[in-house]
Amino acid sequence: MIIHDKQNGLFTLHTRSTTYQMKAGPYGVLLHTYYGPRISGGDLSCLIRYADRGFSPNPDEAGADRTYSLDTLPQEFSCAGAGDFRLPALELELPDGSHVADLRYTGCEIRRGKYALEGLPAFFGGEGDADTLAVTLEDRTAQVSVELLYGVFEEYDLITRAVRVTNRGEGPVYLRQISSLCLDFQRADLDFITFDGGHTVERYLHRSPLRPGVQSVGSVRGMSSHQHNPFVILCERDAGEEHGVCYGAMLLYSGNFQAAAERSQFEDTRLTMGIHPFHFRWVLAPGETFTAPEAALVCSPGGFGPMSRQFHRVIRAHLLRDPLAGSPKPVLINSWEAFYASFDTDKLLSLAKEAAALGVELFVLDDGWFVHRDDDTSSLGDWRADERKLPGGLAGLAASLRALGLDFGLWIEPEMVSEDSELYRAHPDWVLCPPGRPHIRGRGQLVLDFTRPEVREHIFQSIRSALAGVDIRYLKWDMNRCLTQVWSPSLPAGRQGEVYHRYVLGVYDLLERFRREWPRVLIEGCAGGGGRFDAGMLYYTPQIWCSDNTDAIDRLHIQYGTSFAYPTCAMGAHVSVSPNEQNGRVTPLETRGTVAMSGAFGYELDVRALSPEEKETVSRQIAAYKDCYGLIHYGDLYRLSPPGADGVPAAWAHVSPDRREALVSVVAGSTRAARPFRTLRLKGLDPALRYRVNGGESCPGDVLMAAGYPLPAPRGDYQSFQLHLIAE
Ligand code: GLA
Repeated sequence: MIIHDKQNGLFTLHTRSTTYQMKAGPYGVLLHTYYGPRISGGDLSCLIRYADRGFSPNPDEAGADRTYSLDTLPQEFSCAGAGDFRLPALELELPDGSHVADLRYTGCEIRRGKYALEGLPAFFGGEGDADTLAVTLEDRTAQVSVELLYGVFEEYDLITRAVRVTNRGEGPVYLRQISSLCLDFQRADLDFITFDGGHTVERYLHRSPLRPGVQSVGSVRGMSSHQHNPFVILCERDAGEEHGVCYGAMLLYSGNFQAAAERSQFEDTRLTMGIHPFHFRWVLAPGETFTAPEAALVCSPGGFGPMSRQFHRVIRAHLLRDPLAGSPKPVLINSWEAFYASFDTDKLLSLAKEAAALGVELFVLDDGWFVHRDDDTSSLGDWRADERKLPGGLAGLAASLRALGLDFGLWIEPEMVSEDSELYRAHPDWVLCPPGRPHIRGRGQLVLDFTRPEVREHIFQSIRSALAGVDIRYLKWDMNRCLTQVWSPSLPAGRQGEVYHRYVLGVYDLLERFRREWPRVLIEGCAGGGGRFDAGMLYYTPQIWCSDNTDAIDRLHIQYGTSFAYPTCAMGAHVSVSPNEQNGRVTPLETRGTVAMSGAFGYELDVRALSPEEKETVSRQIAAYKDCYGLIHYGDLYRLSPPGADGVPAAWAHVSPDRREALVSVVAGSTRAARPFRTLRLKGLDPALRYRVNGGESCPGDVLMAAGYPLPAPRGDYQSFQLHLIAE
């Protein structure tokens, strides 16, 4: 619900459990007055105190009033150059060379339904789902107007924000920094939580108290990155899974980003999230508009659990565009860790046959299928099936798989090119690289200049002809290196600061085109695993390969961190071989299944090599996953016990929305003698119901939650088990 109190210049956005408020205050400055647990209303600008602070300048309108300073007031959208020295959401470079932006409120509009953003990912919603508030600000001197867009999804406690900047003057204006999110708090006793790591160790949770100054994470790699995620949390110091106020903020963007929190001199906090300023300089010609990527906020008055569940629900309902339209995603087998690039049709089909017999539904042919691609040194860009390996072509393979009862899926890496390729030999100038510089390679490959429509067109057409006549249900869109030497011949020197962002827009453009061309094909995102696991990609690819690390125990941490923002159904997760290919760890097959089925489930190993008992286990896993599919994919996630807690097993539960069914998964760490007995207290059940556990004993919901369930003592390392609870 959006309430505009015209008399007092107040905008109050209510969701089910939260309230957000801003006010066009004195002189038209848009002040942020409140964001937090839902309140009845009123004018929260009474919380703002005024004082004459040294070295905090006063705008001209304030006259002799030295208590009015942009440096001390909570701003709704902060600008650089006009007296607010904290993190700016907007920095402009004007034709006269000045860097001043000073915005004043000019008007607003409230609409039913959620605004959309041309060419950018965004939450979507019709009239019954969401409302839009558009607030217009203007810098009259610079002749620049700014539209702040707010989407309010009441039921999900979600508030989205986006910004449009329009040049209404006669000369060019340069955007130097832009963040859709600027959020001021009149307190600084908060913790900052980020999700960080690297390739194969993505999204480990890090929490620290805000200290004076700026703390930030971001990426200048041209991708949202393995190292830091465009999702952060600010929370009260004692906030935990089920208590304390917390604010989750995500950016729907897959390129360079920055998320920064500043604890200011007066113990206030500002959180900004937007495009990273490194090498960003966007030229806005007269009349042009720039749209900044959307940010999305959930405030939870009751801890991280409810915050995550709201994000999961709203992402599932209003961000993912699932081509399978509600029917279960197929259990897949991926050829990569089974064969890498070394296979032929017989090998593929024998693997497929074995997998089909175990209950697998989709066969994904990973890297290595196109001309001369025997290792990762060649052929990217030449999207034609290698007839040595696939004499019947992709169509022949797909038909053979169909005969085995399997759907067909394929790996591609559209943004990349190998120097040893026909494409590179024909178009050496199609890669990102300034003239005269030797190439910097990543995994031996170069990055195509996706800012250029002709490059995207070529890639689209070549993949389209590779797939002509092929019965295909799935594509894995990979991206295996960071961007360097970012320069495009398509733009003049003064506009090279647009290339990083235009690259991302190009990726989104081609993804959208793929979705239109193959509306029934499920596209899984991938960037060396989790290098581009962000809400922007999820808009185009409703699931993303979570990490190249398939070790079940490392995955506990990766999937745990990922779950703070992103739903289970979006995390690609596979059972792979033991000892694990990435870290050599030995884990039981049951445990690998338990962890992988808390995701978009599949296998990635040579199932032909499994023993009869192991095959039996795989069949049971697939049947169990299918049985619990609705719970896992549409249920609510409760994190019961984090991974890595000293000796305590990691545990989590998926609970059906009506709370009549739950799947509890438990994975113990390495074992020792004389282990203490453990009792697991469950969450999310109906205290008034009794639940049958794994078809056997019957336990009351209140007992399971208050007193707990006695865990069996594991014998051996990394044991796991699952409890399937069904209400009687
Ligand atoms: C990346 C992906 C893997 C696999 C390989 C193939 O690393 O993350 O899953 O597809 O590329 O080269």
